Amino acid sequence: MTQLLKVGIAGTGSYVPEKVMTNNDFTKYVDTSDEWIRERTGIRERRFAPEGMATSHMAEIAAKRAMEAANVAPEDIDLVIVGTVTPDNVFPTTACQLQRRLGCVRAGAFDLAAACSGFIYSTSVGWNMVRSGAARNALVIGAEKLSNLLNMKDRTSCILFGDGAGAAVIRPMDGPSEILFSSLHAIGDTEEVMILPAGGSRMPATKDTVEKELHYLRIKGREVFKFAVSKMVEQVELCAEKCGVPVSKIATIIPHQVNLRILEYASEKLNVPMDRMMINIDKYGNTSAASVPIALDEAVRSGRVKRGDLVVMVAFGAGLTWGSVALRY
Ligand code: UT7
Repeated sequence: MTQLLKVGIAGTGSYVPEKVMTNNDFTKYVDTSDEWIRERTGIRERRFAPEGMATSHMAEIAAKRAMEAANVAPEDIDLVIVGTVTPDNVFPTTACQLQRRLGCVRAGAFDLAAACSGFIYSTSVGWNMVRSGAARNALVIGAEKLSNLLNMKDRTSCILFGDGAGAAVIRPMDGPSEILFSSLHAIGDTEEVMILPAGGSRMPATKDTVEKELHYLRIKGREVFKFAVSKMVEQVELCAEKCGVPVSKIATIIPHQVNLRILEYASEKLNVPMDRMMINIDKYGNTSAASVPIALDEAVRSGRVKRGDLVVMVAFGAGLTWGSVALRY
């Protein structure tokens, strides 16, 4: 049996588009207010990518920043994984487009669809490929352009989401850096808690699906709320147990930026102060698969997460999917 390698995150990068959409901007489309959105979600603003900027364009910038931070050349990357549910096209994949544009000439590349858990899933797959020796340097990305899927007449969903991308390079490392544990989970969503109804093989795009507004995402927010709190608590406790430490020893929790109130409930249940959670939902809203890697990159670049810190990343999303990664950064 092959000896598993000690593998860590060598560098991170992220990108958000310039265009800011404030809460007040949404009052032009739906009956809402800055006060309601801030109090119920913690969101103050989010970024929307302009027309012509696809998921791959945001991913490309985040990936270049991550490779630069990791000091890894594109030709040394041998695996590119893009966690996304808003790919440029169904095929060719966004990962293949990126592989070529970035010059990762030796890399295999694929997209991974796990919605908001996309970066956790991608990191877990990348980690296992590198530690088994099947790849040497993996580039894992979470990138989304959700603004395309928002029904600007539905106040319960359109205010929640934003666009962006985050990336990390995973490779064998000396020193304290090490990915320690990961767990991935799913339960098929038969209740349509979160769904993009049309555009797939079940209901291909027609004039009728467009007229019926079936190409916009739909969510049952209250159900997601309960699911998110319970899974976040469960996953953080599991990571602590698997790392052999109490939850209080986790230096920083990097949660999916879903709703500030969800994170507050989880912090109370975990008995972890809010200042140990990396939160940037106020600036970017929920960017789905991009949310965890953008928060990770901001935490690293601001010096909040340092080499050797015990970090837990946790996410949950459509599918339903959920999971976590524990690491010494
Ligand atoms: O990453 C996975 C995807 N993320 C999610 O699914 C988000 C998870 N869920 C949530 O963040 C929250 O459930 C929401 C922010 C979506 C909703 O917050 P809530 O506290 O659960 O509100 P609610 O759904 O219970 O609605 C309360 C009221 C309703 O009015 P009535 O029926 O009481 O008259 C809604 O129609 O708030 C109304 N409402 C709004 N009012 C102003 C819903 N959205 C808005 C809005 N502005 N944008």
